[in-house]
Amino acid sequence: MSFPASFVWGAATSAYQVEGAAAQDGRGLSVWDTFCKQPGAIWQGQSGDRACDHYNRFRGDIGLMQEIGLRAYRFSISWPRVLPRGVGEVNEKGLAFYDALVDGLLAAGITPYATLFHWDFPEALYQRGGWLNRESAEWFAEYAQVVVDRLSDRVTNWMTLNEPQVFIKFGHGDGTNAPGLKLPLAEQLLAAHHCLLAHGRSVQVIRARAKKPARVGIAPVCVVKYPASASAGDIEAARAATSGVPERLLWNNAWFYDPVVLGGYPAEGLAMYGADVPGAAPGDFELMKQPMDFLGLNIYEGQPVKAGADGKAEVVARPVGHPMTAFRWPVEPESLYWGPRFMYERYKLPIYITENGLSNIDWVSLDGKVHDPQRIDFTQRYLLALRRAVADGVDVRGYFHWSLMDNFEWSAGYKERFGLIHVDFETQGRVIKDSAKWYRGVIESNGGSLG
Ligand code: FCB
Repeated sequence: MSFPASFVWGAATSAYQVEGAAAQDGRGLSVWDTFCKQPGAIWQGQSGDRACDHYNRFRGDIGLMQEIGLRAYRFSISWPRVLPRGVGEVNEKGLAFYDALVDGLLAAGITPYATLFHWDFPEALYQRGGWLNRESAEWFAEYAQVVVDRLSDRVTNWMTLNEPQVFIKFGHGDGTNAPGLKLPLAEQLLAAHHCLLAHGRSVQVIRARAKKPARVGIAPVCVVKYPASASAGDIEAARAATSGVPERLLWNNAWFYDPVVLGGYPAEGLAMYGADVPGAAPGDFELMKQPMDFLGLNIYEGQPVKAGADGKAEVVARPVGHPMTAFRWPVEPESLYWGPRFMYERYKLPIYITENGLSNIDWVSLDGKVHDPQRIDFTQRYLLALRRAVADGVDVRGYFHWSLMDNFEWSAGYKERFGLIHVDFETQGRVIKDSAKWYRGVIESNGGSLG
């Protein structure tokens, strides 16, 4: 069994991480612009001001995508580039950029997959309460409308939010991501509630206004617990843990996917969060649950578990010396089998892997090339696991490698290189890495070359 003939092979980026051009053509500020100025917030005090200068170099970057043979490109739209104050006045030049990007992609035979929100919340709206303000759902709907009215004659694949778990928990709880807040759980849950309303409103806007039939999804993190053995008990424990709300933290799947697909918060979460759960207004859950065409899963790693004495999942320690990426994230190919499988069982929607990849210690060698065998091996292992999931009946429609190119890795700055393309951040020179050439073979053979 191989990947379906229509399988979508792509790569992903997000606006703040690659565009740069922070002060160009009337772009407004996002919370990331201000967060990067806080002393100590970002590695070496870096920022996305220049990033990969993709805003000015996107035509060349599309040429590189063609060289890699990509069939699809997942990018995000910068809310404050389109609406500098988040609502109200529209920045025509910002919209024109996405127009040109989409036209360029289509001319190159590359299908655009657009994410509406990948963390760069408008600073002006943050000053009005940000995600803690219930009006944020309407602000987001206004933004979605501007984008959809402009691009939906050509863009048909949409994702609403990228990784709400991360921008809520790390941005509003731990304070390590923008806007850098350290709020108690109840307020994080309130912000999450508003995000889910924003998701629902934006899906409504897309459905109501898209000029071509639209396919809509969302791209949360998929937190994967996978069975340490093939025993039925371990599999059941892993399944329950992957669908559960095991801690009083916003680091789980069900709190986000359940309202969107099933129309309510999970019972285990309601019990776990207790009095911290926000009150819902009548109609909130109907709004969150809009018809969805697919689920996006961002999967980088997973955690092995076994069934404990009570049948509940217990984390199994990894062996000493377990492989790790440069970021010190564990290499866990099994996550790309069990994550999609458990999510498909619970939600029964087609799945795209909207992000998967690794940071690696890459540089340009004396021969002018970038040799990154770890990225090849990592991706091969993960894709083989994904192919097994497909063989076992999981409806996986596509895979987007994170990332198209080395970029601004949030609070880690430019320290972590996730790209298929190496970027010299001083000169903006690009070099296609060995892994990208290898990926081209995977794409051309529709996964056949994986072995
Ligand atoms: C994900 C983010 C993405 C990138 C990768 C490495 O959590 O969605 O922007 O930073 O991690």
